Amino acid sequence: MFLILFGAPGSGKGTQSDLLMQTGKFVHISTGDLLRAEVKQESKIGLLVRDIMARGEFPSDDLIMDLINKQIDTNSDKQIICDGFPRTMNQVLAFDTLLGVKKENIGLVANLKVNLNMLVERISGRYSCKECGAVYHDKNKRPLIEGICDRCGSKEFLRRPDDQPDVLESRVQAYLDQTQAVCEYYRQKGLVKDLDASKDPVSVNNELKSCLIQAGFKI
Ligand code: AP5
Repeated sequence: MFLILFGAPGSGKGTQSDLLMQTGKFVHISTGDLLRAEVKQESKIGLLVRDIMARGEFPSDDLIMDLINKQIDTNSDKQIICDGFPRTMNQVLAFDTLLGVKKENIGLVANLKVNLNMLVERISGRYSCKECGAVYHDKNKRPLIEGICDRCGSKEFLRRPDDQPDVLESRVQAYLDQTQAVCEYYRQKGLVKDLDASKDPVSVNNELKSCLIQAGFKI
């Protein structure tokens, strides 16, 4: 069964995925993480998408579906978190077909709602561990020991190139133009729960877990 974590850039999809992963009951598929891994490896896909992502635009739907197909093939019969996917109506329709073939279904679309000012504050303060990708924030979430990653002990951190303020503007616009329709499609199907994602991460997670239990997930 699939959980779709839905929300604007910086709404907390990655943070909520990390907290759910601590239950040991989920597999996490983030199309953003998969694409960034390709960029880091300088693979053929990575070289193709690097500039597109740096501008805050979307790579082609076919490329995204190839990545998703591979992930789902290796994780069938599990509870899967989709973080950042589907993001366009073409991806939604291709995903519907895939779910039909696999006899799988979407149990919940959790819509993380945050106002725009808060998104800017969250994105402009975000940084992550260069080694393991653990996410931090200048004000909201610093490592327990300053300068050392809590998860892997690395001392090297980086900021995403698409977290610059002008690129964030394009990402939010892409979300409004192409991604909001996705939420409305799932709302018509009765799958969407709106969550107030401006609360602290643990409160949001507790609310999310209640929705998951109601939707029949095992936590
Ligand atoms: P992607 O990696 O999916 O990024 P995004 O959707 O823009 O979302 P973010 O990762 O920026 O934010 P988030 O919601 O995960 O927030 P986070 O938890 O980190 O996509 C990047 C790019 O890849 C796209 O622009 C596109 O080019 C491409 N792409 C990806 N998927 C695609 C697809 N399907 N189709 C086409 N293109 C695709 O939190 C942000 C910060 O806030 C952190 O510092 C965190 O510590 C803090 N924070 C989080 N929650 C809270 C809270 N409750 N209270 C206080 N602080 C909080």
